[in-house]
Amino acid sequence: MQGQLTVDLAVVGTGVAGLTAALRAAELGLRVVAMTKTTVEDGNTRWAQGGIAVVLPHHDSSQPGDSVDAHVADTLAAGAGLCDEVAVRAILAAGPAAVGALRARGAVFDVNGSGGGLERTREGGHRAFRVIHAGGDATGAEVERALVVAARGGQLPLLEHQPVTEVLLDESGRVSGLALLGAGLGSVGVLRARAVLLTTGGLGQLYAASTNPEVATGDGLALALRTGALTADLEFVQFHPTALYLGAGFRGRQPLVTEAIRGAGAVLLDVTGAPVMAHVHPLGALAPRDVVAAAITSRMAATGTDHVLLDATHLDGAQLRRRFPTVYAACRAIGVDPGAAPIPVAPAAHYQCGGVVTDTSGRTTVPGLYAAGEVARTGLHGANRLASNSLLEGLVMGSRAAEAVAADLVVVARPGPSLPPSLLRPVADRDAVQRAMSAHAGIGRDAAGLAAAASVIARATTHRLVRTPCDVEDAALTLAAAAVIAAASARTESRGCHLRTDHPRTAACWRRSITVTLDDGGTPVVAQPMPVGGVA
Ligand code: SIN
Repeated sequence: MQGQLTVDLAVVGTGVAGLTAALRAAELGLRVVAMTKTTVEDGNTRWAQGGIAVVLPHHDSSQPGDSVDAHVADTLAAGAGLCDEVAVRAILAAGPAAVGALRARGAVFDVNGSGGGLERTREGGHRAFRVIHAGGDATGAEVERALVVAARGGQLPLLEHQPVTEVLLDESGRVSGLALLGAGLGSVGVLRARAVLLTTGGLGQLYAASTNPEVATGDGLALALRTGALTADLEFVQFHPTALYLGAGFRGRQPLVTEAIRGAGAVLLDVTGAPVMAHVHPLGALAPRDVVAAAITSRMAATGTDHVLLDATHLDGAQLRRRFPTVYAACRAIGVDPGAAPIPVAPAAHYQCGGVVTDTSGRTTVPGLYAAGEVARTGLHGANRLASNSLLEGLVMGSRAAEAVAADLVVVARPGPSLPPSLLRPVADRDAVQRAMSAHAGIGRDAAGLAAAASVIARATTHRLVRTPCDVEDAALTLAAAAVIAAASARTESRGCHLRTDHPRTAACWRRSITVTLDDGGTPVVAQPMPVGGVA
């Protein structure tokens, strides 16, 4: 695969957005290759539990209050003033067709006992039951299964265990391919590509405790920044309010306890048994995620503990087990029976709301570079993503990005020869990055803490050649950390997932996105603020 082969489209990342894009590109007749640093089955998609938020035509009749407009309104409310309403409408309105295409590829969703329609649940920030799901709480696994079967069965070229070190440009600044870490230590190969689509997911591994798997190391964000792309809203790292608490000081992936359990009636209590969400928000335990995570954090501080309790003991135990088999199994593995005892939970890093700035077709600010899914910033999520909007975004934007590539390639010239790749990068020790980010850039940040995190990471950084897949990830995490810190330091207010203890209020003058690019020395710097509505 390395050497002189030229593809029309190289898709980097094989989650929901990547596989959807690659399949659509193949349908459109593009020569496409989808690549991943691990295996196709090993991304973040399979860990998604709750579901896909979508207003299907039959929802309107069975629940007359719901509509795409209502879904838009909930998304805007959760996004705390920073969503791009045009993007929100475009993406949510395309949801039914995207879900239809996924079902046509073989994905099976849970149906309700009565009319045979799809079962729906509610999650935080949703005012209607519009979240469809599969396998109870195994929606991501089913989405991934269907896409992987389609990709493998359709002979889609898949390149596994292939880290990407750089998006290559030609002399005109147009994408010309990818630099690939070679099998020999420090060797690099080149894949020539007329377009590159980044679908690498998020950056949960910036933090010591995350619901994300090991692969979520900010790779696409780093690739895009180094290419000169504009990024935005990076300060909005969403913490899921209820990751399963695995004990003091636990580090690594924490199993999710889906919000849908609160949708089914479970309540949040602190360790003294007092309700956490009383008088906090009109939607109570189903308030948007940033509100619930912040309330839990402040209650943990007030009670001097590192977790709270999610109480589902008043619900039907057998039904709970049937409806939430993944959560049930994770709880049983730590000796908790959710039907008999409250589940210990705590917030954990979960989702990158910002990312590489794109239009609603996945085009970035670099010619030939596209992004879709969690790595992208379309404007759908604003300052806080509405629950279960991400799988939907991946499906819609994966498909749209492939269509945009097909349309663009008709009119653009072939790229010229690539500028030579470089493997020299600033690389910090991962443990130092995770400790600094968890201590100072989680829920509750201030100027002094952010500066301390930046200086700890700077001291833990050396400039060196990246030689191994782990080096490539560590270099990406180092750059992602600096970019998040730059954006979080600049935003001197609290909004959505960005909670500044030294600036606790939301300020009207900050109702705009902060964009970040790299300066000539490769350091992330805050560029011009972007008005609500996105880039022109
Ligand atoms: C959940 O099931 O609570 C997570 C779904 C999401 O992150 O949107």
